[in-house]
Amino acid sequence: MISAGQIIRQRRSLLACDGRTSIPAGRFYRMLSRVMPVPWDAIPWSPAIHFGLFVHRVDGIDPGLYALARDPGKVEKLRQCMHAHFVWETPPGCPASLPLYLLERGDARQLATQVSCRQEIAGEGAFSLGMIAEYQASLLAHGPSFYRRLFREAGAIGQVLYLEAEAAGVRSTGIGCFFDDPVHDVFGFKDLAFQSLYHFTVGGYVDDPRLTTLPAYGRRVKARQRGMDLP
Ligand SMILES: Cc1cc2nc3c(=O)[nH]c(=O)nc-3n(C[C@H](O)[C@H](O)[C@H](O)COP(=O)(O)O)c2cc1C
Repeated sequence: MISAGQIIRQRRSLLACDGRTSIPAGRFYRMLSRVMPVPWDAIPWSPAIHFGLFVHRVDGIDPGLYALARDPGKVEKLRQCMHAHFVWETPPGCPASLPLYLLERGDARQLATQVSCRQEIAGEGAFSLGMIAEYQASLLAHGPSFYRRLFREAGAIGQVLYLEAEAAGVRSTGIGCFFDDPVHDVFGFKDLAFQSLYHFTVGGYVDDPRLTTLPAYGRRVKARQRGMDLP
């Protein structure tokens, strides 16, 4: 069993996906369960970010488009704002506590790549996702400064995904480059009720041999071994 400290120190963004590695559905559900906000205390406001997922290589469930409502009370609102033809089926083996739904079966690899500024990492992993914010209502209720809070929530979710992917033996990467209007077209969002703010990909990784990885906090560890204390 790997310690949390080791996972935190070794975690890196994936630079390329191998286009092969899949993860078991149980692991996928576990990773998504970890971004459910209860019992988070890092974000004091009600969850305002949900996921639109592109699932490519998860063993035991169909590839396609999925939705995760990080607040179960928002499923209906999402359903009303997304394409009417989506099926909203619970995937096999999904825990009852996880509001995850299959929207549409199909090969979404090319689609995910296209909407992510044609970055292959979005289509060649196990899954990728858009973090879809409850946008207009949040800004009207809490004021313009809530815009920053939406990004803070997205960033916190990203940190969890980075560590969960590392713990699962795969890797992930934040994707800041994506085309938001095409993402909205994929899921059926037509107005400012929902807005994609940040994307993420998770999958089997290919290392770039040109990069060197040094031990995290190596200077501090060496200094401590010599009996010194660095500021
Ligand atoms: C907000 C954010 C957006 C990012 N967007 C992209 C992206 O669009 N494409 C990409 O390949 N990597 C993206 N990355 C990954 C960064 O390139 C990566 O985090 C950086 O190179 C540092 O590497 P490390 O996470 O291994 O320390 C993004 C990371 C963050 C935090």
